Amino acid sequence: MRILSGIQPSGEPHLGNYFGAMRQHVELMAKGEAIYFLADYHSMTSIRDAAERRRFTRELALDYLALGLDPARAILYRQSDLPEVTELAWLLTTVTPMGLLERAHSFKDKVAQGMTVNHGLFAYPVLMAADILIYNADIVPVGQDQKQHLEMTRDIAGSFNHTYGIEVFKLPEPMILEHVAVVPGVDGRKMSKSYGNTIRMFAPPGEIKKAVMGIVTDSTPVDQPKDTTTALFQLWSLFATADERAELFARAKAGGLGYGDVKKDLLARLTAHFAPLRARREEWSQRGHDVEDVLRDGAQRARAIARPILEAARDAAGLGAGRPEATRPD
Ligand code: ADP
Ligand code: TRP
Repeated sequence: MRILSGIQPSGEPHLGNYFGAMRQHVELMAKGEAIYFLADYHSMTSIRDAAERRRFTRELALDYLALGLDPARAILYRQSDLPEVTELAWLLTTVTPMGLLERAHSFKDKVAQGMTVNHGLFAYPVLMAADILIYNADIVPVGQDQKQHLEMTRDIAGSFNHTYGIEVFKLPEPMILEHVAVVPGVDGRKMSKSYGNTIRMFAPPGEIKKAVMGIVTDSTPVDQPKDTTTALFQLWSLFATADERAELFARAKAGGLGYGDVKKDLLARLTAHFAPLRARREEWSQRGHDVEDVLRDGAQRARAIARPILEAARDAAGLGAGRPEATRPD
């Protein structure tokens, strides 16, 4: 089973990225041939600062390694080290109906928010389809927000196969990572870097403390029952066992539990949880070129899988000189 996923290096990752995606990517390493990439081409649709992109990309590689991604087992690479993917994106874009892209929620949302949108943002799902189809990945673990993009990938794959009459591409299965609900941000909305309400998992301790202490709560007095569906309790639950959760929630409902105490306990749990990961991150970050070596090796291994699939697609579409009939897939 081939598992593929990518994440954009568009800011330092937060608890939503960790619980909603990255931690699960690392766990899935044990389930099959895992390929993860740092989607720097994708980040071009929003980030314009070259130095920032390079820094975020390296930081994201460090984050994955800190979380325990084992480069001997999983492939980790930087998307732009595999420019083949942009070639495949062109082949796919010519079989992608405009109407399909016009229906994309994420694009429509950005237009609705009044963002200045570029063609890259509109074509984003086609590049994402290329990311996936270039490995004929079986399973793509993504958050709920990416589900529509996955459906589009299946449509685009089918459209290419149908157009050229050859089953070049497998239709990938989405694996929606929904056993962790949406992680709330410090203001109660979905935690997202675009809302500025994040808790960055590897931020300096002072920043984490400030963010945790700043989680928005209401003015219910200490002795009154508390609403446990709010951000503070939901965030706290991420670091607790089911029994601990039941106990704290019972205390909250009974009254007498102050928000400040829950915040302090959350901070302690969060700090302890990330301490060993932080140490591993520090080790990797000290090891100078090792991270580059991991990414270079990852790109080589990724290319070995991608190249024949791209060749088959080029061949099917009649690009290049073509291969002798005998070596063509039927
Ligand atoms: P952001 O919303 O901060 O820009 P991204 O869209 O780059 O985050 O998300 C990267 C990955 O993390 C995606 O797979 C997404 O589903 C997951 N993710 C992001 N925010 C959350 C959240 N608040 N709760 C759960 N998963 C999240
Ligand atoms: N669009 C995804 C996100 O914003 C990132 C991504 C790009 C991706 N290409 C992918 C995820 C391919 C899975 C597979 O989170």
